[in-house]
Amino acid sequence: MKKQKVAAKDEAVIIFLRGKKTILRPPQDSDVLLFQRWVNDPEVRQFIQRYIPASEKEEREWIEKMGKGSNTDIVLVIVAQGRPIGTMGIHGISWKDRTATTGALIGEKGYWGKGFGTDAKMALLDYAFNTLNLRKILSHVYAFNKRSLAYSLHCGYRIEGRLVRQRFVNGRYWDEIILGLFKSQWLPYWEKYQSE
Ligand SMILES: CC(C)(COP(=O)(O)OP(=O)(O)OC[C@H]1O[C@@H](n2cnc3c(N)ncnc32)[C@H](O)[C@@H]1OP(=O)(O)O)[C@@H](O)C(=O)NCCC(=O)NCCS
Repeated sequence: MKKQKVAAKDEAVIIFLRGKKTILRPPQDSDVLLFQRWVNDPEVRQFIQRYIPASEKEEREWIEKMGKGSNTDIVLVIVAQGRPIGTMGIHGISWKDRTATTGALIGEKGYWGKGFGTDAKMALLDYAFNTLNLRKILSHVYAFNKRSLAYSLHCGYRIEGRLVRQRFVNGRYWDEIILGLFKSQWLPYWEKYQSE
């Protein structure tokens, strides 16, 4: 009886990518209020390009748009310990240059700094390089976002440049750091991550 229950629960889990401690799945309707809470939270949105209130309608429309599929943007929900904790995406894919930019947001703040972001990002990079056949991945980080910078460097990204006093956040201008990661640079990090 117990076995059947577990099987039924497992069947309900949608998995697109599997990390070691996270799974990534497509967004679904029931995520709307979570997304709305995450992107409105001042402690979270200071790190992303969000400064206008996000309505439920806006989040619902965004999920619907993502659900229709896009040739240039892929967004996935990060699930850890059976719970949706944030989102991670590949944006602005150029099929000609074979480049794209990644973005991430763990909205459940109790899950920050525990390795879930690194785990999800490694699974996403595996997909970007080994399924989509992308060549180079970029990421943009505000200079004060030390956690994001640390996790990106952990995944193999290297600092390529800095847009000086580019972003106005929390009352002052901050540099925006541009990170880049070629597949060849990432592979040793991937091998090490898999073997740990
Ligand atoms: C950025 C984010 C995705 C990273 O995911 P995460 O699960 O928190 O990161 P991880 O735990 O995998 O790695 C964080 C690393 O930074 C370190 N770190 C944590 N807090 C830190 C801080 N305040 N300052 C410096 N480093 C810090 C951790 O120690 C860890 O490094 P370690 O493995 O050497 O110990 C997540 O924190 C998040 O979504 N934050 C809010 C939104 C955001 O910043 N998005 C990114 C915009 S560019």
